[in-house]
Amino acid sequence: MTPEEFRRWGHEAVDWAADYLSYPEHYPVLPPVEPGGLLAALPENAPEEGEPFETILADFQNRIVPGITHWNHPGFFGYFSVTGSPPGVLAELLAATLNNNGMLWKTGPAATELEQRTLAWLLNWLGLPRDWFGIIFDTASTSTLHALAAARLHAHPATRVDGAPPDLVVYTSEQAHSSVEKGAIALGMGQRNVRKIPTDDAFRMQPGSLREAIAADRAAGLRPCCIVATVGTTSTTSIDPVPEIAAIARETGIWLHVDAAYGGAAAVAEEYRHVLDGCEQADSLVVNPHKWLGTPVDLSAFYTRRPEVLREAFSLLPDYLRTAEEDRAVNFMEYGVPLGRRFRSLKLWFVMRAYGRKTVADILRQQIAWARELAAEIAAHPDFEVSAPAPLSLVCFRMRGSDDANRALLDRVNASGDVLLSHTVLRGRFVLRLAIGNWATRRNDVQHAWSLVRQAAAAR
Ligand SMILES: Cc1ncc(COP(=O)(O)O)c(C=O)c1O
Repeated sequence: MTPEEFRRWGHEAVDWAADYLSYPEHYPVLPPVEPGGLLAALPENAPEEGEPFETILADFQNRIVPGITHWNHPGFFGYFSVTGSPPGVLAELLAATLNNNGMLWKTGPAATELEQRTLAWLLNWLGLPRDWFGIIFDTASTSTLHALAAARLHAHPATRVDGAPPDLVVYTSEQAHSSVEKGAIALGMGQRNVRKIPTDDAFRMQPGSLREAIAADRAAGLRPCCIVATVGTTSTTSIDPVPEIAAIARETGIWLHVDAAYGGAAAVAEEYRHVLDGCEQADSLVVNPHKWLGTPVDLSAFYTRRPEVLREAFSLLPDYLRTAEEDRAVNFMEYGVPLGRRFRSLKLWFVMRAYGRKTVADILRQQIAWARELAAEIAAHPDFEVSAPAPLSLVCFRMRGSDDANRALLDRVNASGDVLLSHTVLRGRFVLRLAIGNWATRRNDVQHAWSLVRQAAAAR
């Protein structure tokens, strides 16, 4: 592709993106496709000769876009909605253009230092200690895996050389995200060694049960290694009592990791800063700007106040990666599994600067207000019930009736193409989840979703 062709097709691609971002609601949220549909439509082998870019772009529009689930749609209320804001999209284009690999400071001085600066900015927005060490990973699952690895090394320093002993135990709540258990599996700690602490009526970890579990394990000769608390659980956005949990971690000397992947973002608004109460005492914490902070997937911010432990867990510097600056600069490859590193901080920098904290805070507080308004309307409706407290922007609810009736209701609502809701199971019952988080969503989109739910329930 010549520079002139690049310019031409670049303009074409940006025009397409601008149109798409103006009207994502022109598409059904869920594409009307079946598994294998695209596979059958694509040639089995890549072309021997290059194809005209026009054909490739046309196929993108005609074959790929029809198979896309539109997370940009303002009616996307499933899972945790995300936002790839326009400034973030442009940063992705520029980051791909630079194609910088920031594995070492030397291979990406600006990428390394922008990562340090933007992550410190984010700490400030969240009201967390400014001196924590931050590093960007792809996802919260990866961040939590690194927390577990650091916690393990902290509990048993010989792990690095000798491998992990079989008696290290991880504590989290029964509502924690599956990435905690998956991390323990991946690190060879074993599912057997993950304790899922019971939760209270509001789905928050019970500190008393945590304390008992630790004591029982110690009495049985096992070694408690890491506690993972959650600020904003996946099913309900419940917020574990981190101050009490931190006190237990301190008394027992156990590493405390906080999974604030979604919920931590709320702290950008002053009146929700309390969601991170106690987190300043954590050993590590993850928050995902790619969830609720307008940053395109993927960007997970991982923080620790013990970077030396993380480094001890992962640093391995072969001769060919040694540099003259290593005593004066951060080489991020020493703090995690990946060597090669995308220039992710650029998009966070663009987003934070383009919106500013006040606008971001306004968006988040507005979304939380809509969720509360919706929860109140649902609670007041005779045919529905709210299934969990809604402290943030997610409402869990169900129609009075059987699980099967609620499953059918969800299918009917999602078949509209206007919205996507997801589900979870709480205390054994099937529950619908309506998660507000897309920055393109407006109050009337939430109201429209609720009216579709009522209509679908009435049409039974
Ligand atoms: C509380 C929580 N933690 C972790 C994750 C995993 O996030 P990721 O997809 O970035 O690995 C999720 C995903 O929704 C989540 O809700």
